[in-house]
Amino acid sequence: NKGHYEHYMQKEIHEQPESLTTTMRGRLIRRGSSKSKSVLLGGLKDHLKTIRRSRRIVFIGCGTSYNAALTARPILEELSGIPVTMEIASDLLDREGPIYREDTAVFVSQSGETADTLLALQYALDNGALCVGITNTVGSAIARNTHCGVHINAGAEIGVASTKAYTSQIVVMAMLALAIGGDTISNQARREAIVDGLHELPNKVREVLELDQEMKDLANLLIAEQSLLVFGRGYNYATALEGALKVKEVALMHSEGILAGEMKHGPLALVDENLPIVVIATRDVCFSKQQSVIQQLHARRGRLIVMCSEGDAASVCPSESCRVIEVPQVQDCLQPVINIVPLQLLAYHLTVLRGFNVDQPRNLAKSVTTQ
Ligand code: UD1
Ligand code: M6R
Repeated sequence: NKGHYEHYMQKEIHEQPESLTTTMRGRLIRRGSSKSKSVLLGGLKDHLKTIRRSRRIVFIGCGTSYNAALTARPILEELSGIPVTMEIASDLLDREGPIYREDTAVFVSQSGETADTLLALQYALDNGALCVGITNTVGSAIARNTHCGVHINAGAEIGVASTKAYTSQIVVMAMLALAIGGDTISNQARREAIVDGLHELPNKVREVLELDQEMKDLANLLIAEQSLLVFGRGYNYATALEGALKVKEVALMHSEGILAGEMKHGPLALVDENLPIVVIATRDVCFSKQQSVIQQLHARRGRLIVMCSEGDAASVCPSESCRVIEVPQVQDCLQPVINIVPLQLLAYHLTVLRGFNVDQPRNLAKSVTTQ
C-alpha cells in the first residue's frame, strides 16, 4: 500500500523517521549502577564475549548492504580496536579469500536471500568463523543459518532501490559498534554522545526530508546529463558510493562514487566545466581536507554541488556558481544517515523527470537469488 505516495521508493524515503524509530525500539537502554547510556541487542548478548575475542571482523554483503557496512567500519574500529575488513560477497567467493576460526563474519542483507551472500555464509561456516547476520527479513535464509544476529526491523521494503533498509542497517551497525566496544571509562563520553545522537536521529531525518523540493529543482537541472560524480571520504565514502548507486540504478544515469583522497590519482582528469560533481563536505575530522578538494575542483572549473552542514555554505563555496545542499549536523558516525537522504531524493526525482520506472528499474530484481 503506497498510501498517498505515487511510488514505493518515494514512500520508503519519506517513512525513514518512523522506520528508524522502529529499528531502535527497545534497544537504547541505561546500564549498571551509573545508569550510563548504552545499547541492548538481544540477538547478540550471548555472543559478545566471543566477538570481542575475535582477531578480525569481516563485513560481507552486496550492493547497498555492502555500502551500509562500509559506513560502520570506522566507528567499529574506533570503539572495539578490532581490525575490520570489507568483502563484497562475490569477490570473496571468486578469490576463495582466507576466513579463519578466529574471525567474526558479519553478513549484511536486507532480503536475507541474496545468492552471493548466502554462498559466502556457507563458505565462512565451513571455515569455522562465528557468523552474524544483519537482515530485515525474519525467517530468511541468512537469519536461519547464521549463529546469531540482529533484525533491522525497518518494515517491508518494496522498491527495488534500497532506501529505508540502508539507513536502518547503518543504525544497527552503529549499535553493533557500541555493543562490541563495551563500556570503558575512556570512551564513555563518546559512547553516550552516540546514544544521544541515535535518540535524536529520526527528528533530524524529518528535517532533512524538507529538502524534497530543493532536490527536485536540482534534478531538473541535471535531467539531461550523461554522468554525475560523487566525492566523499571517511564516514561518507560509503555515502558517495551509495548516492551514485541510487542514481545509476533508478535514474539510469552513469554515476560514480569516488573516494576524495584518490582524486589526484585519476578522477581529476575528468573534471571540466560540464560534468556535475557532488562533494560531501559535512563537519567531521575530514572537513578541512574536503575544503581543499573543493578548492582544487573549483580551480579546474568543476561544476560543483556541495553538501555541507547547516551554516557552512559560505565557508565551503568558492563561488556563486556552486550549488549548496545544507543538512543538519549529527554525530560524525551517524551523519551518513542524514547525508544519503538528499541523494535518495535526487535519484527519485531524476527518475520520475526522466520518465523511467522508479520502483522496478529495467533488468533488476529486488532480491538477487541467482549468481
Ligand atoms: C526479539 C524478538 C522481538 C521481541 C524482542 C523482545 C523475534 C524475531 N524478535 O527481538 O519480536 O520484541 O525479542 O525482547 O522474535 N538472528 C540470527 N541471524 C540474523 C538475525 C537474527 O541468528 O540474521 C537471531 C538472533 O540472534 C536472535 C533472534 O534471531 O536469537 C531474534 O533477533 P532479533 O529480532 O534481532 O532480537 P531482539 O531484538 O531481541
Ligand atoms: O537483499 P540484499 O541486501 O542482500 O541485497 C543486496 C543488493 O542486491 C541490493 O542492495 C541492491 O544493490 C539494491 N537494489 C540497491 O538499491
